[in-house]
Amino acid sequence: MKIFAHRGFSGDYPENTLPAFEAASKLPVEGVEFDVQRTKDGVLVVHHDEKLHRTSNGKGHLKDYTFSELRELDFGSWKDKKFKGTQIPTLGEVLRVFKDTHHLLNIEIKTDVVDYPEIEQAIMEQVDYLDMTDRVIYSSFDHVMVEKLLRVAPNNTTAALFEKILVNLHEYGEKIGTKHLHISLNAAKRGVIREDIQKGSIFRVYTVNKIEDYDAMEKLGVEAVFTDVPDVLLKHRKNK
Ligand code: G3P
Ligand code: CA
Repeated sequence: MKIFAHRGFSGDYPENTLPAFEAASKLPVEGVEFDVQRTKDGVLVVHHDEKLHRTSNGKGHLKDYTFSELRELDFGSWKDKKFKGTQIPTLGEVLRVFKDTHHLLNIEIKTDVVDYPEIEQAIMEQVDYLDMTDRVIYSSFDHVMVEKLLRVAPNNTTAALFEKILVNLHEYGEKIGTKHLHISLNAAKRGVIREDIQKGSIFRVYTVNKIEDYDAMEKLGVEAVFTDVPDVLLKHRKNK
């Protein structure tokens, strides 16, 4: 089973920042996951929350700030004062960390609160420009976005993200046109995905931070887990 570092090596470093990605790039994990949004002036940046207060000294919505305003903010101190002054990264900066590595990249396109028109086109252009498309899995909780990605770039790998516990996911994936399904640990534990796997769906599960959950997902036959503690899961996998 593959291991993806969730928001970079977010257990030990401030999530979705270059220190977290550089640390992840040095690990023998198969992949890394991160979230993309767009600034007021159209720059693609990597950040999870659509608001700023949890992970920076800023407040309000990210979309209301220009890139240069966001670069003034500190995205590291909330994690530990040793990360003081860590800046928000651009998508391009994050992609370049992995340009010459083996890692798969799961780019989650955030549209939970804010609709960023055509954001997927802008993201795909940057990925294509760096010739990294073969290593990217696009995903979104916004299934209108997922269907659009599948329509405009059918050769890309695109996954539908789910939070709730659902049934007949394989049939749902077939309906929208993908076999790549990213679901929460809670949904994977309680749902009935074993049959969906047998039918050919590929499941990746977030966020798996305990070794007993890793083992349960492996037994179930999921393809990959997203984790904040890749060091813990790598050690466990190695010793199995
Ligand atoms: O893409 C998997 C996972 O990251 C989705 O949830 O809220 O951590 O972005 P969230
Ligand atoms: Ca995410």
